[in-house]
Amino acid sequence: MAEPSGNNKAADRGRGIVIPDDWPGYRLDLFTYPAHYSEDLDSVYIPHGVIMDRTERLARNIMDDLGDHDIVVLCVLKGGYQFCADLVERIKVLSCNSSKSLLMRVDFIRLKSYLNDQSTQDLQIIGAESLSVLSGKNVLIVEAIVDTGLTMKTLLTHVRSFRPNMIRVAGLLVKRVPNSSGCLPDYVGFEIPNRFVVGYALDYNEYFRDLNHICVISESGKQKYKV
Ligand code: IMP
Repeated sequence: MAEPSGNNKAADRGRGIVIPDDWPGYRLDLFTYPAHYSEDLDSVYIPHGVIMDRTERLARNIMDDLGDHDIVVLCVLKGGYQFCADLVERIKVLSCNSSKSLLMRVDFIRLKSYLNDQSTQDLQIIGAESLSVLSGKNVLIVEAIVDTGLTMKTLLTHVRSFRPNMIRVAGLLVKRVPNSSGCLPDYVGFEIPNRFVVGYALDYNEYFRDLNHICVISESGKQKYKV
């Protein structure tokens, strides 16, 4: 994980595609999405095709940096499953079609810290017993979204305790939040405003994972699926 840095070009590239605070998203009727969510969304924030194109470039950056190494990809469930699957797929394609190749093993860890659209202090790590395989390995943690960064900080401390050789983090989304822990992924897909987003495996109380685009949930959607 990189520490925050000033206004230079490298740091800007590190932020990925920066979505400004006043970005309203696209009208829902310009895209297809499951009819059961028709009342529950405000806008399409990042269309599925754009996510795919950005993921392809992240795969190339990872390949450029880590190619010819062996890595263990550590997928952070549940929200990271789609991004991880698509990222691994694109790295596989590059491994077949370039002079470099990346031997990948894939492992999973499950974290839970959110209730409704609020972060809770209670971070649960589930399925951590298998992480001894990370000892001495090059680890690529793949996470869907970094909000305050506290989840990632806790996870990094946990993963470091298994003494890997190297840790890199790929995050599809990083939120611009005032209370950021300052830890940023090494590979960032998009920097987004401080809004609650769903879709592409990101959930609100387990709903909306079955939505391809990253969308903004509506107030009625929040009420409908509140626990
Ligand atoms: P952090 O510890 O504040 O960085 O929160 C990270 C975790 O919160 C992620 O792994 C997600 O599970 C969840 N999360 C944060 N923001 C969102 C969001 O906008 N949509 C869905 N889940 C989110």
